[in-house]
Amino acid sequence: MPSLKFAVLPGDYIGPEVMSAALRVLEHVARQENLQLDWTEADVGGAAIDRHGQALPESTLKVCAEADAILFGSVGGPKWEKLPPKEQPERAALLPLRKHFTLFANVRPGLLYPELTDASPLKSERIPDGIDIVCIRELTGGIYFGQPKSTTTLPDGDIEAIDTMVYRKSEIERITQVAITAARARKRRLCSVDKANVLETSVLWRKTVSDYVAANAPDLTLTHMYVDNAAMQLARDPNQFDVFVTENMFGDILSDEMAVICGSLGMLSSASLGARNNSHGRPFGLYEPAGGTAPDIAGKNLANPCAQILSAALMLRYSFGLDAVAARIEAAVRRTVTAGTRTGDIAFGRPSVGTTAMVEAIIKQL
Ligand code: IPM
Ligand code: MG
Repeated sequence: MPSLKFAVLPGDYIGPEVMSAALRVLEHVARQENLQLDWTEADVGGAAIDRHGQALPESTLKVCAEADAILFGSVGGPKWEKLPPKEQPERAALLPLRKHFTLFANVRPGLLYPELTDASPLKSERIPDGIDIVCIRELTGGIYFGQPKSTTTLPDGDIEAIDTMVYRKSEIERITQVAITAARARKRRLCSVDKANVLETSVLWRKTVSDYVAANAPDLTLTHMYVDNAAMQLARDPNQFDVFVTENMFGDILSDEMAVICGSLGMLSSASLGARNNSHGRPFGLYEPAGGTAPDIAGKNLANPCAQILSAALMLRYSFGLDAVAARIEAAVRRTVTAGTRTGDIAFGRPSVGTTAMVEAIIKQL
């Protein structure tokens, strides 16, 4: 029986609720598919600050290092907002996790079912068939991590802060490879987003992506777009994209824009794939919902568990090579939602169900 060894990091507020929903779904498919789940839970984020004094304790890193993948909930919230920015759960847990495991490729599907177009702030006539695009964001380079990074008081008393945007050709090539694989599984159209009219890193980005695709993926249609234009095009006609690939900070911003045009954050999953392979010969990865900890609805059985469940499906696909099982979970979520069983965030005034009833409906579809 194939054994799936993964770390479970539920985090804060709705994190544990949607995590237990995802684990129920995983346990169900494991029974059906004869898979053995071998997961270990560990504290992260605010929960870890409270219990261990830090957002990403050594003990949690160890659990992750011994696993083949990480299923992550979400971290942060009002309880820890008074901490200095560097100690906030989001920054002190997520960024070091990404760096520690070189999770350089963030795959964010922007998927809106046609039945849910009402959830999008875009006019329905602009997205008659919903939205189906993918953002590939570089996650361990660029201005987030570049050195120097400092804040200094100058001799004249003024204060200067510095962030540095750095990219190496090799970092651009490896994210391009991930984007090529994603585009090949879809419509073979790849758009690279940069700011090559201003930034040196973007000039290197554009040349590297062009050369790499020409040499390794001549079957793809590659286009380039400046990031400001991309932000506009996403709001105008999102489906003109199939897969787009971009650097860390542009991807942070564009993926949030993508999330909002796709309606509820409660439906969006993400995968952050690492540079090293796990014991299954697949990328080690971290899988997390796009949304946050939603403190206002935590503990009330109101949270939409779909994003966490869909993130678990991505884990099966990318880190365990179980594409068919992942597709079964995705189809079950889709059928449940389109059949009308919905949590409050996607119910649009119609009767809604709680987190547990939602999970039960999804399990029934499975
Ligand atoms: C994200 C988040 C993080 C980021 C924050 C919480 C550090 O916005 O995953 O998009 O900026 O990468
Ligand atoms: Mg973000």
